[in-house]
Amino acid sequence: MTKIAPSILSADFANLLYDVNEVKAAGADYLHFDVMDGCFVPNISIGLPVLKSLRKATDMFLDVHLMIDRPHRYVKDFCQAGADLVVFHLEADQPQHIFEAIETVKSCGKKVGLSLKPKTPAKAIIPYLDKLDLVLIMTVEPGFGGQSFMHEQLDKIAEMKELINKTNPSCELQVDGGVDSETAKLCKDAGANVLVAGSAVFGKKDRAAAIDAIRNA
Ligand code: DX5
Ligand code: ZN
Repeated sequence: MTKIAPSILSADFANLLYDVNEVKAAGADYLHFDVMDGCFVPNISIGLPVLKSLRKATDMFLDVHLMIDRPHRYVKDFCQAGADLVVFHLEADQPQHIFEAIETVKSCGKKVGLSLKPKTPAKAIIPYLDKLDLVLIMTVEPGFGGQSFMHEQLDKIAEMKELINKTNPSCELQVDGGVDSETAKLCKDAGANVLVAGSAVFGKKDRAAAIDAIRNA
């Protein structure tokens, strides 16, 4: 079954726990937590203190998406702050440091994923794939919620699904950016099994209906 990961980037941060509890009650599988550093992406969001507070307040599976430069500097801190899964970008550092960051997350007993920006080809994942629990394909340029889905990424999702089936069949395939009840169907058909949705969930009054619409697309 398709997993739904609402992105709190589109939640109301002054009422964060209320919004989180709503999507939890609505059956969301993961809670997607977007971290932006103003360097890797042209925006700044939230970080360790918010994650620590959220960890105390909810038992939801916390899926942390790091859009930061040189993630090996911080992955241990995010594990200790309560992430269940830590995902970072393979474009964010030299391969040697990306491998190091993967090992650090694993040694903390957490799940690990790598993310690809739209211009990065699927085959860039090959050196890392056998070590991963999840691959994230961005279907917008990372940095902001509410952007339009890039349809040209669908072939890459399908290509990634093939690579996963060959090398590491239990690895999850996540899509993030512009996912709504229409584009969700395209992502699923291409092979994705975890769908991140920010504005299509938190931008709607009835979050349960929004989640069902994406899941059943
Ligand atoms: C974008 C973030 C996404 C964002 C998605 O850089 O990584 O997780 O919240 O928002 P929507 O679903 O509105 O495109
Ligand atoms: Zn994200």
